[in-house]
This record gives sequence, structure tokens and C-alpha cells, in this order.
Amino acid sequence: MRLSVIGCGYLGAVHAAAMASIGHDVVGIDVDAGKIATLARGDAPFFEPGLGELLVSGLDSGRLRFSSDFADAGDATIHFIAVGTPQQSESNAADLTYVNSAVDSLLPLLSAGHLVVGKSTVPVGTAAKLAERITATGATLVWNPEFLREGWAVQDTLSPDRIVVGVPDSDGGSAAAETLQNLYHTAAKASTPFIVTDYATSELVKVAANAFLATKISFINAMAEIAEVTGADVTTLADALGHDNRIGRRFLGAGIGFGGGCLPKDIRALAARAEELGRRESVSFLREVDQINLRRRDRVVHLATAALGGVLFKKRIAVLGAAFKPHSDDVRDSPGLDIAVRLHGLGAEVVVTDPAATPNAKRQQPQLTYTTNIDEALRDAELAIIVTEWDEYRHGLTPSHAASLMAQTKVIDGRNCLDPATWRAGGFEYVGMGRP
Ligand code: UDX
Repeated sequence: MRLSVIGCGYLGAVHAAAMASIGHDVVGIDVDAGKIATLARGDAPFFEPGLGELLVSGLDSGRLRFSSDFADAGDATIHFIAVGTPQQSESNAADLTYVNSAVDSLLPLLSAGHLVVGKSTVPVGTAAKLAERITATGATLVWNPEFLREGWAVQDTLSPDRIVVGVPDSDGGSAAAETLQNLYHTAAKASTPFIVTDYATSELVKVAANAFLATKISFINAMAEIAEVTGADVTTLADALGHDNRIGRRFLGAGIGFGGGCLPKDIRALAARAEELGRRESVSFLREVDQINLRRRDRVVHLATAALGGVLFKKRIAVLGAAFKPHSDDVRDSPGLDIAVRLHGLGAEVVVTDPAATPNAKRQQPQLTYTTNIDEALRDAELAIIVTEWDEYRHGLTPSHAASLMAQTKVIDGRNCLDPATWRAGGFEYVGMGRP
């Protein structure tokens, strides 16, 4: 099939390469000419394991192209919208500027029989509005949310755990769903659940999934707050809860909380949309979820101040991590980077290290000191704080090595990813999150 993918960020670049790898002819379009040039060379413009290889094989096969000229999408009959929907600067609602301009640019290229497939995360009701303009051209709009996780994006795109397609009520709906089932032929062969529904449900599935995950994380972080005043251990609590199949252990990792380009903005956008719909109270708990999440950052600043005798001024602190999670170079809404900024603001001499995210972190927070060398970050530090659970820190770092570099043997484990007994036996003052 001949496809175009509008928007070549984390979502679109991976989608374009993945669709070429399963045999389709794909052109990826983005207004950012620099990004297009990088992709056209076969380089991933961001850290995403496996994407580089997929790009190179797609480009070599001749089935994958990239362009910043919309006219190059003219040969395609199926157009994916994969642009970002960030939080508006003035409110909690999603900013649909990029979605609207993608549709504006596509309209002149559409005709009867064409399919427009929305993949971006949008407020419920968006597809119905866009459909009015798209169907006027004879094309059909479907909404097909993407559930990929950064760091696992290639695998999640090629082997999703479900495919959801929101179709219009009109006759074209079932034909469009069938086209998508044929397009995702490898998933169909793997018997991936394929759910055909209406626009509103498909839009809601995505934000509801992210709201549920965020709530699960904030739930365990709320339990961490209780553990902190009772002497209980939240990690043992999470293990015990997780053995209940109805609950499950995943996303019960207490620590400094969630960040990234999706969970924080999606819960805020859902709350904003619910308010527009007159259902503010239905998701008012999401404000609490957000607040619990942000309080974890205050907790680390409090623990760091206590560990350093009540004063941070001129104290050297190594912050291990900047990405919002491991296997990513993304620092959007990174709780770890936010903590580093706050400590710096309180006068500490903060050195941030991360195996992948220092260039992005430096662009966003240039006032901090960065190094990609963990030894350099730890040298003479009076405190180390782990904010991203990279393997390099979990398994690569030993108490004896850290102690040989640091001025004081103190560590705050913001992700509960170290073994407290090992670090204490190594002479460290170890402080976890919600652990005695
Ligand atoms: C998320 C969804 O998982 C994905 O399905 C959706 O398509 C996009 O949003 P992503 O943003 O890549 O994916 O990150 P995810 O792996 O969900 O982690 C989000 C944040 O939660 C990270 O900051 C992570 O550190 C944090 N987290 C995760 C916890 O604090 N505790 C946990 O137990 C799990």
C-alpha cells in the first residue's frame, strides 16, 4: 500500500519505518527540514533502540522516503497523522495546532477512496470535527491511537498488544477498518486483538489508558508517603500487592514519579476536556494524581537538604540521570531534571550525568553542569541522587567505586533501583523513596 506519515517525531518516524519494514511504500513528511535530512541519511533524530537499523533497511529497500514537501505525499492513498499534541502554554488543554495544520495541508491531496488515519493523541470529539472537512473530499477518516512506549517503540509498533480503530457511522466505516486490518497484516497474523469502534471511544481509549497508568503510579507513590511516616517499605508493599493478578506489579514502581511527553500532559488534557464537557467531577481525581506526582519531587529536595545538614549552598551533588526514563533521551517533563534544577536554584553545585539525554537536557536547562562521564559527576560529590534507573547505575555502579570518588558516602535512590543492604554494607547512608 502507498502510505504517507505526516509528522516524523517519536511516533511518526517509527511508524513510517515500521510500515516500510512490513512491505508498504512509505513517505514520511515533516516541516522540520533538519529532521528530514537526518532521517533520509538513515539516522534516528532521537534515541530509540532499533530505529536506526529499521531506517537503513527501509531506505535501502527503496520503500521508505522522507520529505519536507507535502506534495510528495500526493502518491499515497492512505495518510497517517502522527503530529504532536503538546499541552497549551496558557492552559492544561491539548494544543491541536499541528493536527489542524496537517489536515489543512492534506486536504488538497485527498480524493474519493483515500483514507486518513489519525494516530495522534487528541481530546475526545476531535475526530468528529475533522471528519466534516475530510469527508467533503470523498476521503474517509478513521482514528487509530498509538500505544507505543519510548524505548520500546519499534517493538510496540510492529507487535502491538491491541489495535483500536474508530470509524464513522457511514458505510465507509467497515471498509476502512478492513483496509487497516490488511495494512497491519503482520499483527493480524499474530492474532492481535483488533477492536473496531466509534471515533469517541477510540480517542478515549488512549487517554484513559494513560490516565490509568498515571493513577497506578500515583497510587503507589501515595502509599510511599504513608510508608514514610510509618516505617513501612513501599517496595515490599508493591510486591505483595502485585501478586494479586487483578492488580499486577507493573507500574507500581514508587519513586520520583512519572514524566515524559505523554502521561503528564494527557491527564491534564483529559481533565480540561472533561471540564468542557460539563464532567469536571468525573476526573477530578486526576488533579490529585498530578499533585501526588509533583510532591515526590519536593520530597527528594527535602531528603537532599536533610542529608546535607540543612543547607544546600555550595554543596556538590551528582544527579545520575536526566531522561524521564531509561532507554530514552527525552527530557520532556522529566522529574529528575526538574529536581536538578530545584537543587541548583537552592545554591547547590549540581552535576548532571546521563548516558543519552545530556544534549537535550543542556538545551532545556543550560544553567546546569553536565557530563556524560559518571566518574566525573561523582568526583568530590557530597551526595549522589539517582533519578533515572539506567542499567549503568543499577548494575554498573558499585558502592566501593562510588566511595572512592565521592567526598561523602550518601545516596538518594529516587527510583528504588539499588539494593539498600549492599549500599549500606558498602558504607553508604542510603535513602530510598517510601522505604525505611
Ligand atoms: C506512555 C505509555 O506507557 C504508552 O502506552 C503511551 O503510548 C505513551 O505514554 P512513555 O511516555 O514512553 O509511554 O513512558 P512509560 O514507560 O509509560 O513511563 C512513564 C513515566 O512513568 C516514566 O517517567 C517512568 O519513569 C514512570 N514510571 C513508570 C514510574 O514512575 N513508575 C512505574 O512503575 C512505571
